[in-house]
Amino acid sequence: MTMGAALPHDSAPLHVTGQARYVDDVPLPAGSLHLAFGLSSCAHGRITSLDLAPVRAAPGVVAVLSADDFPDMPDLSPSVHDEPLLATGTVHYVGQPIFLVVAETHLQARKAARLAKVTYQDLPALLTVEAALAANSRFEQGPILWTRGDIGAMAQAHAVVEGEIEIGGQEHFYLEGQIAAAIPQEDGMHILSSTQHPTEIQHKVAHALHLPMAAVRVEMRRMGGGFGGKESQGNALAVACALAAHATGRPCKMRYDRDDDMVITGKRHDLKIRYRAGADAEGRLIAVDFTHLIRCGWSQDLSLAVADRAMLHADNCYWIPNIRIESHRLKTNTQSATAYRGFGGPQGIVGIERVIDHLAHALRLDPVEVMRRNLYAPMGCPPQTTPYGMEVEDSITDKILDRLIQTSDYHARKAAIADFNAASPVLKRGIAVTPVKFGISFTLTWLNQAGALVHVYQDGSVHLNHGGTEMGQGLNQKVAQVTAQVFGLDAGRIKITAADTGKVPNTSATAASSGSDLNGKAAEAAAITIRDRIAAFIAEKHQVKPGTVRFRDGMVLVGGEAYDFARVVNWAYQARVSLSSTGFYATPKITWDRVRGQGRPFLYFAYGAAVTEVVIDTLTGENRILRTDILHDTGTSLNPAIDIGQIEGAYVQGAGWLTTEELVWDGKGRLMTHAPSTYKIPAVSDRPVIFNVDLWSAPNREDTVGKSKAVGEPPFNLGISALMALSHAVSACGPAYPALNAPATAERVLMAVNRVRDV
Ligand code: MTE
Ligand code: MOS
Repeated sequence: MTMGAALPHDSAPLHVTGQARYVDDVPLPAGSLHLAFGLSSCAHGRITSLDLAPVRAAPGVVAVLSADDFPDMPDLSPSVHDEPLLATGTVHYVGQPIFLVVAETHLQARKAARLAKVTYQDLPALLTVEAALAANSRFEQGPILWTRGDIGAMAQAHAVVEGEIEIGGQEHFYLEGQIAAAIPQEDGMHILSSTQHPTEIQHKVAHALHLPMAAVRVEMRRMGGGFGGKESQGNALAVACALAAHATGRPCKMRYDRDDDMVITGKRHDLKIRYRAGADAEGRLIAVDFTHLIRCGWSQDLSLAVADRAMLHADNCYWIPNIRIESHRLKTNTQSATAYRGFGGPQGIVGIERVIDHLAHALRLDPVEVMRRNLYAPMGCPPQTTPYGMEVEDSITDKILDRLIQTSDYHARKAAIADFNAASPVLKRGIAVTPVKFGISFTLTWLNQAGALVHVYQDGSVHLNHGGTEMGQGLNQKVAQVTAQVFGLDAGRIKITAADTGKVPNTSATAASSGSDLNGKAAEAAAITIRDRIAAFIAEKHQVKPGTVRFRDGMVLVGGEAYDFARVVNWAYQARVSLSSTGFYATPKITWDRVRGQGRPFLYFAYGAAVTEVVIDTLTGENRILRTDILHDTGTSLNPAIDIGQIEGAYVQGAGWLTTEELVWDGKGRLMTHAPSTYKIPAVSDRPVIFNVDLWSAPNREDTVGKSKAVGEPPFNLGISALMALSHAVSACGPAYPALNAPATAERVLMAVNRVRDV
């Protein structure tokens, strides 16, 4: 079987030998120019003077462009018209591009960009959610509110907990930073961009150059990671390159260095969640009241959809009879927060997992017991509905939890940890379980479509193109496997090609984990069209029904004969059978009214659970993940090797978000953590010492490609178990609830230890 085989990433040999080509590796024609932005050093202010003469005089500088050069400033926003390429009079955050330097070399452009003399008249800068709330600075008229039942039922609760959790943002830290290049053509523009969304780049470049989209071609072979940070944040570089290339007639390239990348681009939304929740004596949830205070930054970008997804995941795996979720999308003078793996979902899930943990502490129950008492009715039982009115028909959380609790030996280890802690004054261990339910589909319904283009050449080789982009997640290999399966070929016989707006138009961002669901189905449809044409042709020659023709192991089986695939293809070519086809897919069943917060936004849910064990040093707060066990639902996996890689990576990235990755802004809105020296992503040594990952591989009940499930984002949420395990370890130090904020850095763990001891 090709589909379902645990093949390595198609580019693995290229990755490890350094031969994989990224945008910066593509040789550009002689005479190419290089770009850099000059950045605002003021969080909010009016530009009172901008002296660019020293920039223009710097060595190698060819041109310097600012708002004065653009009466009609190009816009970069993926949602509303609120993101000028260069600041127009007012700056809105420290790091906002004010002017653009075009120079002969990368270094010359960067050096020159520092020479401008800019003065500002300071305006009040809103840096925190509290400040934005007080100033009513937000992206919608007022908060969005969804309710079900009556949270007044809280009065009947046996235990009520109340609190606030602060959840930090997260830098994407893709290893390949933002980059684009523009190569002017005789009648348009050719763009190379490290982007999850080639069509968006095409759209924005066309708009900036006043060209039809058809005159702009965007090509994207691979990204060195995107993680959501390349859905919209690459627009600035591509548009800048296109404008400079248009103005000079020379190819232009722009690459942010790491510090600029961190200072300019948006990150995961940080937020505060206030909660009040009540349960009966057995831990059954009676009512939950959430308030999300989400820091969106200076422009809208994708924030409304991110904030919606946080609300859509405020229930996680639990049926909550009475619930109220209030969401404030706050506008601040900071980087414009953007998509990041999970797209707000993880933030919503942290909220309810905190509630479960807090209630379990108050009721002196094992959190797992509280979880079990609140799970959505399992698949096969009459479905219960989410707060937004979708029936949960596919819940397997109970089965996943049962198996994982057993395979991880949770109960025995928890007892052993209690013994260890009783005898250990300095080191304390903790263990926690986090189950996950994650909705699959874009909530903007029309994005749930994809196209593909497949050619079979007369020698039997196959060229595959689809609307998705490769960022390391293995999408190309999966789609190649799906295509190969249709033709009965090995995946290695499918030629994978760069995403290209000239081949597949009107694509959605490769995002929402739906890359293989959407593009896999589209490529499958294209391949089936060609296969059926070949089958009809060869069947007629053999006087058999087309349905009896089989494509298997590189052979075509027809009427008792077996021919090599390439031979049959060549005959079909000579018989003038079309061997090329597009394919298209649109996700069925979904409807969503985002204003009312009602509908079926997701085709299905992906499930999983993790058990994490940690140890903390109560004198320093230092900590380690000792062991992690994961059981994650991939449906019938298209490629178990790639899926396990996605799950491991997602877990570590999720745990990093909630433990070591801390973004710090100073009182003037300057990001102080803008390099790996001050921003700590997990290293190889931070991987759990013992790391067991298993797949739950029952077929998807929905008709997805190969009955698989999306895997890119859901397991990110499993990292929440690391935060909860730290909470458990801290609670061994005293009776009070630890109320850990995230990221639970060593300092925060230490402060929590002292807090629970003080009681
Ligand atoms: N895995 C790698 N190696 N690199 C990435 O940038 N991005 C994640 C996830 N896994 C990412 C990744 C995000 S945010 C998403 S939405 C999905 O991959 C997108 O790809 P898919 O839809 O094909 O799963
Ligand atoms: Mo992923 S945040 O949907 O790119």
